[in-house]
Amino acid sequence: MKEVFLSHQKGPLEDRIAIVTGAARGLGAALARRLAQEGCHLVLADINLEGAKKLADEIESTWARRALALAVDVTQEAQVREMVDRTMAQFGRIDILVSNVGIVEVHEITEFPTEAWRKIIEINLTGYFLCAREVANVMKEQRRGVIIQVNSKAGRQGSLWSGAYSASKFGGIGLTQSMALDLAPYGIRVNAVCPGSLLDSPLWEEYLYNECAQKWGLSREEVRKKYTDEVPLGRACTYEDVANVVVFLSSDQASYMTGQAINVTGGLQMG
Ligand SMILES: NC(=O)c1ccc[n+]([C@@H]2O[C@H](COP(=O)([O-])OP(=O)(O)OC[C@H]3O[C@@H](n4cnc5c(N)ncnc54)[C@H](O)[C@@H]3O)[C@@H](O)[C@H]2O)c1
Repeated sequence: MKEVFLSHQKGPLEDRIAIVTGAARGLGAALARRLAQEGCHLVLADINLEGAKKLADEIESTWARRALALAVDVTQEAQVREMVDRTMAQFGRIDILVSNVGIVEVHEITEFPTEAWRKIIEINLTGYFLCAREVANVMKEQRRGVIIQVNSKAGRQGSLWSGAYSASKFGGIGLTQSMALDLAPYGIRVNAVCPGSLLDSPLWEEYLYNECAQKWGLSREEVRKKYTDEVPLGRACTYEDVANVVVFLSSDQASYMTGQAINVTGGLQMG
C-alpha cells in the first residue's frame, strides 16, 4: 500500500510551466530534460528549431510532459514577446524561466574584435534582460514565479581570454540582483547559477579544447587535466551538478532565496 501511495505523490515541480532558452543542445537541453523528469511542462526556445523540436518529441515520449519548441533569437525583442505570448496561449501561465543562452569566444584582450565583443554582450546580457523582462510582466500579474539565469564561474572572477564573456556574466549577476529587488514585492524570485567548466559539453568538444590546446601548445588531454587539477573536488562540472541546483532554486524549498548567485564549481570558486 505504501508503495502505491508513494508512486502517486507529486514532486515539487509537478505540472509547473518552464521556459528554457538555448534548449536545443548542451546544458540547456540537459536542464530541460531534468525539469521534464521532475514533472514540468516545457517551452524549448532556441535559434536551432530542429534541435528544439527533436527534444520536444523526446520529452513528450519519455516523460509524457507537454513540450513546445519555438524558434527564438533572444536578442530580438519581437521574438521574445512572441515566445511569451505563445507560452501563455498554450499553457496559461509561466512558473519558471531558465535563461540559459550564452556564447563564448576567446581572444586575448589586445586582439579582441569589437564585433565579437558586441555579439557576446548582446546575446549573453541583453538576451537575458529581454527574456527576463517579458516573462516578469506575466509573473507580476500572477504574483508568483521563478527566474534563473545560467551564469558561470566567469561571472564571479575574471577569466583568461574571455573579457567579453566574463563582462557579460558579471553584468548578468548585477541584473539578477537588481531584478530580485524589483520583483520581490510580487513574489518573484530571481537567482543565478554559476557552473564550473562542463568539460564534456559540445562547447568544449567543438571549440574550447582546440583554442586552449593551440594557445598553450598542449594536447587536448593535457588541457582537460589542467582544468580538472585546479578543482578542489578533482573533476569537471556535469549537467547533473547544475540541474540539481536549478531544480532546487525552481522549487518552493528555495522560497527564502532571491538575488543569489550559486557557485557549482567543485570548490574552485568560493564567494
Ligand atoms: N559549457 C561550459 O563549460 C559552461 C560553463 C559554465 C557556464 N556555461 C553556460 O551555460 C550556458 C549554456 O552553455 P552550453 O555549453 O550548453 O552552450 P551551447 O553552445 O552548447 O548551447 C547554447 C545553445 O544556445 C543557442 N543559442 C545561441 N544563441 C542564441 C540566441 N541568440 N537565441 C536563442 N538561442 C541561442 C544555441 O543554438 C545552443 O542550442 C551558457 O550560458 C554558458 O555561458 C557553460
